[in-house]
Amino acid sequence: MCGIAGYIGKKEGLETVLEGLKRVEYRGYDSAGVLFFQNGKPVLVKRQGKLANLERVLRGTVTKGKGSTQGINIGTGTIGHTRWATHGMPDEINAHPHHDCKKEIFLVHNGIIENHQELKDKLTKLGHKFRSQTDTEVVVHLLEENLKKIKNFDKTLKKSLREIVGAYAFAIVYTKEPDKIYFARLGSPLVLGLGIEEFYLASDPAELAGKVKKVIYLKDGQAGWISGTDFKLNPVKSKIENLNLTAEQAQKGNFPHFMLKEIFEEPEAIRTAMRGRLFPKKDLVKLGGLESVAQKLKKIEKIEIIACGTSYHAGLLGELLFEEVAGISTKTIEASEYRYRQNAITPNTAHLFISQSGETADTIAALWKANRQKGITLGLVNVVGSTIARETKAGVYNHAGLEIGVASTKAFISQVTILNLIALYLSENKSLKRKLSEELALIPKKIELILKQNRQIKSLAKKYLKFKNFMFIGRKYNYPTAIEGALKLKEISYVHAEGKTAGELKHGPIALIEPNFPTVALVNKNSVYEKMLSNLQEIKARKGKIIAIATSGDKKIAGLADDVIFVPKTLEPLEPLLNIVPLQLFAYHFGTLLGYDVDKPRNLAKSVTVE
Ligand code: G6P
Repeated sequence: MCGIAGYIGKKEGLETVLEGLKRVEYRGYDSAGVLFFQNGKPVLVKRQGKLANLERVLRGTVTKGKGSTQGINIGTGTIGHTRWATHGMPDEINAHPHHDCKKEIFLVHNGIIENHQELKDKLTKLGHKFRSQTDTEVVVHLLEENLKKIKNFDKTLKKSLREIVGAYAFAIVYTKEPDKIYFARLGSPLVLGLGIEEFYLASDPAELAGKVKKVIYLKDGQAGWISGTDFKLNPVKSKIENLNLTAEQAQKGNFPHFMLKEIFEEPEAIRTAMRGRLFPKKDLVKLGGLESVAQKLKKIEKIEIIACGTSYHAGLLGELLFEEVAGISTKTIEASEYRYRQNAITPNTAHLFISQSGETADTIAALWKANRQKGITLGLVNVVGSTIARETKAGVYNHAGLEIGVASTKAFISQVTILNLIALYLSENKSLKRKLSEELALIPKKIELILKQNRQIKSLAKKYLKFKNFMFIGRKYNYPTAIEGALKLKEISYVHAEGKTAGELKHGPIALIEPNFPTVALVNKNSVYEKMLSNLQEIKARKGKIIAIATSGDKKIAGLADDVIFVPKTLEPLEPLLNIVPLQLFAYHFGTLLGYDVDKPRNLAKSVTVE
């Protein structure tokens, strides 16, 4: 969480940094700030709330409208930040950039300084005055203190980094060297954008889309500086990579929100996930990223899937798929639990880490643990070059494109598609493989049919808008889908939504059912259809309202449910790929009809890079 943007080069830095921040506002949006040089002097502006608040004040006082330079110096360092609070209230004082006592060092930070209290006590005794409640501020005072003796900023940064315990991506301006931006990375993402006579720092490659073609994904422990004409990196060994992101991918186009745009991109996300990998007619699944461990995978007896949030829900589906399709015993664990559990180390176990961003702190810590235990670690990651992608032994990329809406939608669909591909890859059941592969190839078209019901789903959301509690139920493959549907609704609409296995309803949750507590039930015509109908009878008997997601052509359901959204028929393991779409749309419309900014739900961040 927290977005960082830095720019130095031939263009005016402030506009460029604001544009960059806009693209990473999803990483944090409780306050924002920038540091730039105007008429040779450093100017610091910070505001509480969304980036728009900061922009408004800058347009009013500094730039006098978009595009106007008003003495802003070219070739000097500009840094900016959007914050997701960890230490201290989301207010102006706690917003970044932070500065030292003499206002010579300005710094933005993403991550957590774990030994901040110890350092703060030491620096306070030495006379440093702290203004904010953040862990970050300690770093600027530490730099100030060390600079007194060392006198050279580059060396001061190196020494200070050795004294810091925690995770960080820093962008730093030292006003006596206005033509440089210093930076460092450990545990929090930072990308260096290499332009012609210009350099960028970004916490997400999305900031650089359409601006540069070459990037360096900084590695943990790397630090250095950029100037308008050059850069220095320590340790030097780094790969310059191509950035294949267009500016359009980072924009909403004709959609009012990224979330809606991304839901409509789902058919394409599935096609891309399968392209060059699924060959139904040849009974073949090719996963290039797993080739290096193919022999080991043949011998595995157990899989552990580890992830957080929506990726964890995809993992639960993976568990069912790996057991049913590939016959491999599988367990799914939340990364925040896995990292602290005393787990039994079993031979021939593969650990699969699922993460859209590839930067989730808990998932990374869990991965380090599995790597220490010498297990086979695999990644299912969307963001190319991210930490989890780099630090797993092998893996598969989603290639789902940028996902900007905080509530994950197309990444989930893509993750579930690839989990199907991995299950098919590991499976030796030829007939099941053939049936599933052929049907998987048809899923994008079936989703397109569901998307056509967008208006109808909006009306349904309107009808149920007055309710404050929802139950989501399903069995087998529809259980993870139910809890993911409930998560979507609570994330962006702030209503209470509980997901349960339908069979467990009678063991407690049914006590909640009454006319004001509607149930969303996933009732496809599958192996548990009759069981689901019995559950619906139980809900009806308690006067509970029912919204059913059911298979097209199902005539029985109308007699039981108050409202029905029909989805095309498919094979049971593939039902989640269809059922989740109306649930995502329902949550989207529910949130927007209530007037919320669904792309930036309160208290949440897209990429949770702190524990
Ligand atoms: C945050 C996001 C969720 C996401 C989770 C895991 O909580 O708001 O949408 O599912 O992190 O993120 P990852 O990038 O690891 O999939």
